Amino acid sequence: MTDYLPGFANHVSTEAVPGALPVGRNSPQKVPFGLYAEQLSGTAFTAPRAENRRSWLYRMRPTANHAPFVPYPGAMLLRSGPFEEVPPSPNRLRWDPLPIPSESTDFIDGLVTYGGNGDVASGDGCGIHIYAANRSMEGRVFFSADGELLILPQQGSLRIVTEMGVLDVAPLHIALIPRGVRFRVEVEGPSRGYVCENYGHLFRLPDLGPIGANGLANPRDFETPVAWYEDRDEPTEVIQKFQGRLWTTTLDHSPLDVVAWHGNLAPCRYDLARFNTINTVSFDHPDPSIFTVLTSPSDTPGTANVDFVIFPPRWMVAEGTFRPPWFHRNVMSEYMGLIEGAYDAKEGGFAPGGGSLHNQMNGHGPDVASYEKAVAADLKPHRIEATMAFMFESRHVIRPTRWAMETETLQGDYDEAWSGFAKARLP
Ligand SMILES: [Fe+2]
Repeated sequence: MTDYLPGFANHVSTEAVPGALPVGRNSPQKVPFGLYAEQLSGTAFTAPRAENRRSWLYRMRPTANHAPFVPYPGAMLLRSGPFEEVPPSPNRLRWDPLPIPSESTDFIDGLVTYGGNGDVASGDGCGIHIYAANRSMEGRVFFSADGELLILPQQGSLRIVTEMGVLDVAPLHIALIPRGVRFRVEVEGPSRGYVCENYGHLFRLPDLGPIGANGLANPRDFETPVAWYEDRDEPTEVIQKFQGRLWTTTLDHSPLDVVAWHGNLAPCRYDLARFNTINTVSFDHPDPSIFTVLTSPSDTPGTANVDFVIFPPRWMVAEGTFRPPWFHRNVMSEYMGLIEGAYDAKEGGFAPGGGSLHNQMNGHGPDVASYEKAVAADLKPHRIEATMAFMFESRHVIRPTRWAMETETLQGDYDEAWSGFAKARLP
């Protein structure tokens, strides 16, 4: 049932029933089969053509066909910008993995917000969540009106059934769901992963500059599902996140009833193993921006609302160089997570399903054990295997939620990672 079309933000035409897609016009007087034509706009009508994102959906009933939404009482730990529950701490923070709940919990109720920045009302910043779930969403779908969702499974494969097609997303793959697109998440068992909810400009592939026309995440490796629909006249709850709060209504049918669509705004997935990792073949460690998969630009050139950066398996060959990530203070703020393996700047304490936060101008870098190992290393070519750390890096300070500051998974001894460095010996 799952088939994909290659390319990032391509203009796609797809129909699950032959003849369902109008030809030559978007909104004919009579749509084939009595389907309803509906435009889904991901950018302003007047956004420059190169940035304009929209699709036309042909569905069995219009989305407008619903009763009023009322507040939804679940997902008690989901939060949104502005993040003002607690004063942002200047300290470096690190969390143990989020436990999988013991009670029955689906993707929506399993969302826990660690922090974020900006403001959903102004369309700026992002929210950083981890989901921990153990059952599929049944009889209900979800969408965020506040931002697009970048989903990174860490444990357990997901089937993300959207109104525009079906995405199978295993750990080490990512999914990107546009703002407003309805979907349900089906799991195979205990499942956990990371979510970046991007309130700002849509994620895009970064410019490559002198790298040239190819490299990093190549457009052809993104996969968009073909049209798929379900014709189900059963009560279906629609939960939406709107301005930071959840709202619910119930339809008498599944809204995953888009029989055909065309356009360049759609969900997609990407296999992180296909990332063309570029790094030095002489000396020095390039800035980690060399590992950018997707970027949400801000209105300031080169200064991202949020970048999605990965640290994949790769060869380390730098000559005469301290090879792990160096010590750093950054005007940008860095949330890190780990899909699998270990991160080359941290010998311990940073586990898959956990996370760390190094905010603006917080000194960070390799821990003592990683440092001592790296300065003593024999600098022969070395492959870092079976690892996938990632970073959400933002121009805005990432402000933790109250839960993130009070949870028992917050490590009390993280500063110890940098305790015990020997003093430099001057002549
Ligand atoms: Fe850094």
